[in-house]
Amino acid sequence: MKNIVILISGRGSNMEAMIAARDAGNLPVNIAAVVSNRPQAAGLRAAAQAGIATRVVDHEAFAGRDAFDSALAACIDQFQPDLVVLAGFMRILTAPFVRHYEGRLINIHPSLLPSFPGLHTHRQALAEGVRIHGCTVHFVTPALDHGPVIIQAAVPVIDGDTEADLAARILLQEHKIYPQAVRWFAAGKLSLDNGRVRLDATLDTAAALIAPELRPA
Ligand code: GAR
Repeated sequence: MKNIVILISGRGSNMEAMIAARDAGNLPVNIAAVVSNRPQAAGLRAAAQAGIATRVVDHEAFAGRDAFDSALAACIDQFQPDLVVLAGFMRILTAPFVRHYEGRLINIHPSLLPSFPGLHTHRQALAEGVRIHGCTVHFVTPALDHGPVIIQAAVPVIDGDTEADLAARILLQEHKIYPQAVRWFAAGKLSLDNGRVRLDATLDTAAALIAPELRPA
């Protein structure tokens, strides 16, 4: 069974979606550890309650990004991960760190990349007036919120939507596509090949979700 290490900074609902999928028998991976850069991250408690090893590498204890990333990698590598899963991990990572995990480092971002990288993605989407918004799971490259796309989910933007409305609508989709990406990886169906995603998925599990429960009956 493949080993995964999940990195969080806060709430950890994507991490919890993976724990739930694992517990339901839908995600055959060993969640070897959950690592946070913030000692107060709420997700740490949920991980510990689920019996998963937790670690904190507090970025505030380090002089710079290089020192922090080295300590973080040393912590992660104790668990010999096949895959490192960034789940609301709100740190910019250095190029050496990203290269060390090339092909085994994935992230989820609350927009349809390459639109709206960075923070406040729902505010950006509302300001642009887009009618379709969503979330993206991608392999990580040194550029922020950038990299080969594994799976995306789209949701409609409705007149009157607030940032909170969009965040909630999209989070539901995040909790579906992120476990799906890890499931593909665990099954050996997903890899990074010369900077391109290789995905052995059939149409019924295609690499796009159009929020099916939001379609009119
Ligand atoms: C999620 O919406 C995730 O897409 C976003 O942070 C939230 C974490 O929620 N990540 C980013 O913005 C990364 N650029 P969670 O802690 O409940 O999983």
